[in-house]
Amino acid sequence: MPDAVCNRLIEVALPIREISAESVRDKSLRHGHISTLHLWWARRPLAASRAVVFASLVPDPDDPNCPAEFRSAVTRLLRDNVPAALKGYWRGRNFRRDSDPYRPYDGTPDTPRNRLLTFIARWSPEWLAFEKGAKDSQQPAPAELLDDRSLVKWETSDPKNEQGQAVLRIARELVRIAHTSTRHSEAAVPSGEESGSRNAETLGLAQSDMPVVLDPFAGGGAIPLEAGRLGCQAIANDYNPVAYLILRATCEFPQKYGKPGLRAQEAGPETAKALNSSFVSDPPSNQVPNVLAYDVEHWAKWILERARQRIGHLYPAGKDGKPVVGYLWARTAPCSNPTCRAEIPLLRSLLVCNKPAKRVALTASVQGKQVTFGIAKGKAIAHTDGTMIEKGRGDCRCPVCGQVTPVADLRRAGLEGKLGERMVAVITDTPHGKGYRPVEPSDLTAFEEARQLAETVERPGEYIVPEINAPNAPPDAGAHRSISVDIYGFKTFGSLFNPRQLLAMQTFVACLHDALAELGKRKPDAEYRKAVATYLGLWISRNATFLTNLGIWKPSGEFLSTPFSMQAIPMVWDYAEANLFNQATGGALSQLGWILRFIAHESCPPETSIYPAQVNCGDAAQMPFTTGKATVVVTDPPYFDSIAYADLADFFYLWLKRELGDTLPEAFATPQTPKAEEAVAHKHRHQGNRDKGKQHFQHKLAACLVEAKRVCISDGVLAVMFAHQSTEAWTALVNALLEAGLNITATFPIDTERGNRMVALDVSALESSITVICRPRQVGTAAAFRDVRREIERVVAESVHRFWDYGFRGADLIVACYGPAVGVFGRYERVERADGTPVGVPELLELAKECALKAIAGEFTGDPLSRLYFVWANLYGTATQAWDDARLVVQVGGEGEDAMEVARRRGLFVVDGPTCRLALLRDRSPLLRSGRGAGDEGASLIDELHHAMQLWKDENRADLVLYLREHDLIDHAPYWKLAQALFEVLPHEEEDWKLVRSLLGERETLRLEARRTAPPVQPALFGA
Ligand SMILES: C[S@@+](CC[C@H](N)C(=O)[O-])C[C@H]1O[C@@H](n2cnc3c(N)ncnc32)[C@H](O)[C@@H]1O
Ligand SMILES: [Zn+2]
Repeated sequence: MPDAVCNRLIEVALPIREISAESVRDKSLRHGHISTLHLWWARRPLAASRAVVFASLVPDPDDPNCPAEFRSAVTRLLRDNVPAALKGYWRGRNFRRDSDPYRPYDGTPDTPRNRLLTFIARWSPEWLAFEKGAKDSQQPAPAELLDDRSLVKWETSDPKNEQGQAVLRIARELVRIAHTSTRHSEAAVPSGEESGSRNAETLGLAQSDMPVVLDPFAGGGAIPLEAGRLGCQAIANDYNPVAYLILRATCEFPQKYGKPGLRAQEAGPETAKALNSSFVSDPPSNQVPNVLAYDVEHWAKWILERARQRIGHLYPAGKDGKPVVGYLWARTAPCSNPTCRAEIPLLRSLLVCNKPAKRVALTASVQGKQVTFGIAKGKAIAHTDGTMIEKGRGDCRCPVCGQVTPVADLRRAGLEGKLGERMVAVITDTPHGKGYRPVEPSDLTAFEEARQLAETVERPGEYIVPEINAPNAPPDAGAHRSISVDIYGFKTFGSLFNPRQLLAMQTFVACLHDALAELGKRKPDAEYRKAVATYLGLWISRNATFLTNLGIWKPSGEFLSTPFSMQAIPMVWDYAEANLFNQATGGALSQLGWILRFIAHESCPPETSIYPAQVNCGDAAQMPFTTGKATVVVTDPPYFDSIAYADLADFFYLWLKRELGDTLPEAFATPQTPKAEEAVAHKHRHQGNRDKGKQHFQHKLAACLVEAKRVCISDGVLAVMFAHQSTEAWTALVNALLEAGLNITATFPIDTERGNRMVALDVSALESSITVICRPRQVGTAAAFRDVRREIERVVAESVHRFWDYGFRGADLIVACYGPAVGVFGRYERVERADGTPVGVPELLELAKECALKAIAGEFTGDPLSRLYFVWANLYGTATQAWDDARLVVQVGGEGEDAMEVARRRGLFVVDGPTCRLALLRDRSPLLRSGRGAGDEGASLIDELHHAMQLWKDENRADLVLYLREHDLIDHAPYWKLAQALFEVLPHEEEDWKLVRSLLGERETLRLEARRTAPPVQPALFGA
């Protein structure tokens, strides 16, 4: 059976650079994009997800065992018979003809594999011309880096883009042929009850002809969404009920219900009149393009209108009559000066608008112990500093007495209930953009009314991270570094809402219940009602992010923003409260618009074969799917302890449960999100015991992988994405893979974050994610470490060069080498040292790192310090890094640790608090001049090179010649090798690069001069 040994494309090659370029773009995509439906943390970029799913499903057509049918399909669809729609593309108003969109790049052989790779992603002709330095070529915009006919391009998924639809039809056809020509007898045809609606069958591709893609940790749904787009039957599983709702709204409901239909009579004129805005469907007749979007819009506006009738008056316009967008608040704390005790308004800055052409700031005037706020604009702004001290990590300065109140006192005040809050300004909607005005008495009266009304509604008492904050929590359970509000006394979710925000949330919940009751009378289909209800629920839960006392006002863009995008619940000193009825920013209507655009984007275009995903809420270690049901598994498990999904999701869960508890009871069985089975390494779930957290992660992940392996056909592959750089996290992942009887057959890093890191200097954040491709492990016998080591050295050296060519550097480069090393290691039952003791995974990863560093250092045989400098320059150039982070990457073993400290003392790195960078000549010259550079160990090559660079810079040629001669450097190969290496890696704009270039260029002349010069009387300048 030939297909048994045919590699999948993903085991052989992927166009990594191209996929990375499109993945980086993912963060800036908005209209219709998955991220705009509802927040979920660490969503994978769609481009990477689409590429990995596709390449896991299709065989490598250059493999001799590839089914002939698939190979000829590639040639037919991607070369001989390319649809007319793909034989050209538009650039602005110009149509560029290009009849062979999937030809491999110049100089690359025209094989089916290369055609398939360029189909996945190909650089645009514009980028290729620019890269070649073609005359008149300009750097293309990010959206034009890839050819428009590339599968992974975002625009390809636009249902209105005919070219994109043509690309997807080819992709689906290739997936179908790949599946039917390699189908394994055990691949179960999905049974009727299990797989939901059948709309795809009626539209062309029979469901049984299409593969099943399982994602056991589906989260925000990027992977199943893309699997569905490729025509597959996706199974999306997640443990978290909030993710479950998001998943259904992402990859089940639009595909099932997003269709044209009749509606207008039901809508009635009331909403259209009440709200003068419409997003997707404003039907002139009874026919609407998308009934799901239409109904969601209709009922959301129905709810909004009801809520407005009940509480709209609590957001009154001021004397100027301008509608209110929102309110700016400052928390307050008592001054720690016992003779003052003024209430300090805690403000990070006085600026409320900070745009190039528009600046507005609060003014703060002090009378007695009272601070009064006003507004100043443009040149009238005298001060912008807030009371919070910059870089003071929470310390603040009293505007009355000037004394600093340390953050510890603020925490104490918070825990004792002494933090207050006061409204400091009002944001309004004007014909010329946002306006800002001081607080007026009517604003305070309205708030007071809201406060009284709020006393009649329930304030949610659910605990934030209950293992830490519930009264019965054990002491020392630790904390998750991303959640910090509790240390200031905000221990329940209810405490994150001011009274008016709470009243507004509860009013929306009540109006939603009214709407669902109405909907029940009008729509008999209970399943469909769940779909509409889910979006309405997610809409209100989305609104909550703009309606908490952690809401963020962005002066640089004048908009409201969610506090949770950083995968955290951070403390916020000054916050913004939205008026949900406003139509400018943070209002409920604009939230609705994002949801509707998403539904429209993901609804199944007519004549297209898309299956709604089968969504399941449960622990991935026990899934209700038949054995061998899935063709492949593509997944993205939690990254060790990086993100506290369930703790963060509790914020949304509490509202969703109140909203939809009766409609979707299956999702809300527990009081808060379930946590015990979550596959994460959080110590707070284990009474503060970090090791137990780690063990839990590893064993849980192993159990989930065993289960995924069971659900997958026996010759299927599992593609696992991971984005954590610590060896500890990788050890747990690798142990889990091996424990589950899997081994790594290929590794691909994909850049997803470059230039846009969410958590600056977060030690755990990788700039790329690594996808490892796994197959059931075929274990041989035991092997000697010596032999395995040699093999690992070879494989890692080869990988370093490959990943380097893809553009990976730093920790990304090193970590990407773990996969190939594990691939070798996992082939043996066990790997033994000479004394018979087994080698463990931490040691293996350390070896992989060492081999990678060795491969980077290449032939460089200089002293250890120079080697460190050289490796660092290679890995990081001159960019700033987190010191602990980078130090751990560069050092190897115990010896290396010392070396890093010595290097630091010798000024090879500029360490500034937690950050550091490579020291350049300008940083080092005082040290070199003082002669302290050398230390006890004597001068190293890097000192000697810097020394020579300094002499060149000083135009002191005679001394330079003497120096080189005196130190026998003129013919010392490692010395010049170091110079050459730095020339290759230092950024060209650095002075050091120019100096090294000059030295290298002058080497021959310097040698001649050195020979001619008499032996020196006086040695070197700096006494080195
Ligand atoms: C890295 S995220 C997945 C993100 C997803 N790929 C996306 O694009 O949105 C990992 C997910 O695993 C889920 N999870 C954690 N433990 C689980 C378990 N035991 N079973 C199933 N899902 C689990 C988390 O709720 C989280 O959504
Ligand atoms: Zn004071």
